[in-house]
Amino acid sequence: MCGIVGYIGSREATPVLLDGLKRLEYRGYDSAGIATVSDGINIIKAVGRIAALEKKLLDNSLFGTVGIAHTRWATHGEPSEVNAHPHTDSEGNIAIAHNGIIENYRSLKQLLQKEGHTFRSATDTEVIAHLIERYYEGRDFEIAVQKALAQLEGTYGLVAICTKEPKKLVVARNGSPIVIGVAQGEFFVASDAAALLPYTRNVVYLEDGEMAVVTKDGYRTMTLDNKDVKKEVEKITWDLEMIEKGGFPHFMLKEIYEQPQSIRNLLGGKIKKNETDVRMRCLQNGFPEHVSRIDAIKILACGTSWHAGLVGAFLMEKLLKVPVTCEQASEFRYRQPVMVPNSLAVSVSQSGETADTKGAAQLAKKLGAYSMGIVNVVGSTIARMVDGGVYLHAGPEIGVASTKAFSSQVVAFSLLNLGLSHFMDQRQPLADGTKRIPDKDALKIVHELLSLPEKIERVLQTVYHKDTGDGIVQQIAREYKNTNNFLYLGRGYNYPIALEGALKLKEISYIHAEGYSAAEMKHGPIALIDRNMPVVIIAPHDSEEPESYKKIASNAEEVRARGGRIIAVVNEGDDEISKMAEWVIEVPNTLAHLVPVLATVPLQLLAYEIAVLRGHDPDKPRNLAKSVTVE
Ligand code: M6R
Repeated sequence: MCGIVGYIGSREATPVLLDGLKRLEYRGYDSAGIATVSDGINIIKAVGRIAALEKKLLDNSLFGTVGIAHTRWATHGEPSEVNAHPHTDSEGNIAIAHNGIIENYRSLKQLLQKEGHTFRSATDTEVIAHLIERYYEGRDFEIAVQKALAQLEGTYGLVAICTKEPKKLVVARNGSPIVIGVAQGEFFVASDAAALLPYTRNVVYLEDGEMAVVTKDGYRTMTLDNKDVKKEVEKITWDLEMIEKGGFPHFMLKEIYEQPQSIRNLLGGKIKKNETDVRMRCLQNGFPEHVSRIDAIKILACGTSWHAGLVGAFLMEKLLKVPVTCEQASEFRYRQPVMVPNSLAVSVSQSGETADTKGAAQLAKKLGAYSMGIVNVVGSTIARMVDGGVYLHAGPEIGVASTKAFSSQVVAFSLLNLGLSHFMDQRQPLADGTKRIPDKDALKIVHELLSLPEKIERVLQTVYHKDTGDGIVQQIAREYKNTNNFLYLGRGYNYPIALEGALKLKEISYIHAEGYSAAEMKHGPIALIDRNMPVVIIAPHDSEEPESYKKIASNAEEVRARGGRIIAVVNEGDDEISKMAEWVIEVPNTLAHLVPVLATVPLQLLAYEIAVLRGHDPDKPRNLAKSVTVE
């Protein structure tokens, strides 16, 4: 949530900061601000997107070669200029941009007010500026920052400047990412490396409990209690073009179209045609000796990643033959969960920064689980925290609605399943000596995985016509763009897809949508169905469980009998459910557990198209942020 940028060097800071903010806008966009130090601290803020700030800067120049900036997603205090960052102390000598939440800010604020500090905003952040002021003794700004941070309960990634020591940026991290960009004679700070890419690829990631003092000549990294820490400079390998729109009107559409490539990236080098081996570093040398067996698996995630986790859980339980549950991280971490001995916890997160997933992963570890991650953002907090795992290599996902990360997560589960089955066959063979995934089945999975990118390309070509606008998905979107409700139904592996289809529609088009198990429909939601209710039924054939198709065909009958308008997602050549449907979207055949990858693509496109037709920006839906780094 929110984005931070900082600069210190020889050029004017404002253009660099503004440019960085634009790259981070997806993290929050209700207000933004910039502060530079020259003769004192000068600040410009604006409500709304970065463009509003940019416009204001045309009339009010900000000079200085040292500065900080922030784009906000409100937590405490409404989006307004006064609540926008950077925030200052009473005298205006100290300015700070902060991501995270300070939980004890109320008591600190009361104390500071009693001491005579004057507060202007309703934010939690402002207390940090005043606390630093309280401890500042006219030199060693970083020591004042350390003393202030020692009073805080909560999370922060922050950058601060001070008029009395104008040639310094002080940064710190506890629960919210901070990265320092290293270049010749200049340094950058950001909450996300995307902001630094045009300037440098050399970065230093701060860990929780670390801070740094950055000047134009270098930086010193240390713990929050002032002990030096030596940090490696790492190299960013992804490209700027990878985070630009590449000719698409929105990032979301671009990212939907990137799915064949993102899956190729994930599979690359890990599996080969006609081989059952999976080359995954986390399995080849990642499992330490003490992990002798796995008796239960817990998958922890939020939102779309949770939906991918549900697909993963169904698959793993079926093939690995141990209990597997997929939990919403936010619920898991606040009850008293029991982890059986020899548990594996798999945390799934595109950003690797989701606060609840992070908290759940920490708890699972504390309860003794061996922890793995399925994460997209390299170097993110969850990726660093877990004992091993899989990077998705899907490239930056900018659209707030997660698309390519989802399909890659489902594929990652398939790979992990293959790998874990080998591991478990060796360390905890089944009683009858059979393999968990017989070779012929493993070969089939490998074959289907390798053909997935091409099948997604086929779906994209057939259901959505970018140039003419007359694809089936576009026709359906035109028909239903003004509807108030949608129902999505699926069974088995496609139940999570019903949830995902509904979530996509809700978050970007603001239409109320329910995802439901088709089997559960008769226990309640069937009452909603009438001739105004579009019902998306996800029902491709499941060759492994043909009964399941018959059952969902009966559910489709029930919908039709009540006048519901069926939009069916079926396999090419389907001749049963399609006959009951008003609209038919066909996807190629594949293995049941990979159908979610193909069936989700048209649902992503449907949500996208409806949002655009309703005049919404799908990349920046209201009230949402790309990574939810608050609880
Ligand atoms: O970065 P993460 O995968 O941990 O994010 C989890 C959810 O916040 C995320 O999937 C959210 O539900 C998306 N907006 C869905 O499109």
